[in-house]
Amino acid sequence: MTPPGALDALADLDDLAEVGRDRDRGGYSRHLWDDAELELREWFRARATALGLDVEQDRNGNLWAWWGQPGPGALVTGSHLDSVPGGGAFDGPLGVVSALEAVGRLRRSGVRPERPVAVVAFAEEEGARFGIACLGSRLMTGSVDPARARALIDGDDVTLEQAGRRCGFDTDGLGPDPERVGWIEQFIELHIEQGRGLVDQGSAVGVASGILAHGRWALSFHGQGNHAGTTPMSDRDDPMIAAAQAVLAVQRVAGATSDGRATVGRMSVVPGGTNVIPSEVRLWVDVRSATDVEVRSMVAEIAAEVGATSFRQESWSGAVTFDPDLAARVAGVLGDVPILPTGAGHDAGVLSESLPTAMVFVRNPSGISHAPGEFAEAADCAAGVAALETALRDLLR
Ligand code: GLV
Ligand code: MN
Ligand code: MN
Repeated sequence: MTPPGALDALADLDDLAEVGRDRDRGGYSRHLWDDAELELREWFRARATALGLDVEQDRNGNLWAWWGQPGPGALVTGSHLDSVPGGGAFDGPLGVVSALEAVGRLRRSGVRPERPVAVVAFAEEEGARFGIACLGSRLMTGSVDPARARALIDGDDVTLEQAGRRCGFDTDGLGPDPERVGWIEQFIELHIEQGRGLVDQGSAVGVASGILAHGRWALSFHGQGNHAGTTPMSDRDDPMIAAAQAVLAVQRVAGATSDGRATVGRMSVVPGGTNVIPSEVRLWVDVRSATDVEVRSMVAEIAAEVGATSFRQESWSGAVTFDPDLAARVAGVLGDVPILPTGAGHDAGVLSESLPTAMVFVRNPSGISHAPGEFAEAADCAAGVAALETALRDLLR
């Protein structure tokens, strides 16, 4: 581990470089309460404690590191530590390590805030284990029912309640935390950009204007499991064919819109044998567009075309417009950096329904994200930390 006192966001990312590395897929797989994610949580506790911050876990599994007494008027920064399967090193952790470094610098520079400051690491932001994106912040703000959350199952049929119990986390306490939400006066999340907006505008950092509406749907197609060699083609009820047609329908529907996006990124075949006609195919569709109405209408069109046995919404995030005054203030204090939208979801988007939130983006030269090729130059990461420090300093004035 980097020695205490020599805080540096990039050295911190280096410290984490082997945690949750996915040898099969490449990149990182760090999912709620798995070994890698628990190690990242321990790392966060140790790093924040070394900085002199007081660490606690809230009732929804989010980690908080406080500078000052937790309470009203808090200025909060942070992001998440979990990843998609085979994700990049930056989506999430960059925002956490940058927040720790920026707060560490403020402390060392002699700032004496008149209100509490906190660094947060939200739980299950990607929804990669239990299906609901930004689960920790949604539970906190009350937009997900805790009973539904406890009953969510992962890919191995483990419920969230069981998964919590296995690592000593009591999910009985899950649920809205209006007191904590009420403490937060502003939330500012630094994140790697997940597109090429800042490359195109020639800026190392930028500020978010909003997030596309997006959601996830789980589809299932049933058929008759049977033998691949003895069942004539004319005698099959093979759900893989309907699933394949659904994938093409998803592409057709999104392709006919001006800027809608729809993706089938996950599929599971039951029972999954090379010489077995499946009895069921499950697939997941991610649909995004500028407005809630556009997403709903794409989904309605897909549902009408595909004839799935079941078609269930798993997660929904309405379009977000970040607080324009806060965005302008942050962009202004950073030297009138670009203000730009994103198609990626964030805890800042969830919190924006309850309080003023802003995001600082760090340039991503290829725009690749949710893949091992995700990358940011060291100089741009340093610019991100400096930008976050400047923004926090301004907000603490
Ligand atoms: C999270 O990064 C998402 O956009 O799904
Ligand atoms: Mn992500
Ligand atoms: Mn993220």
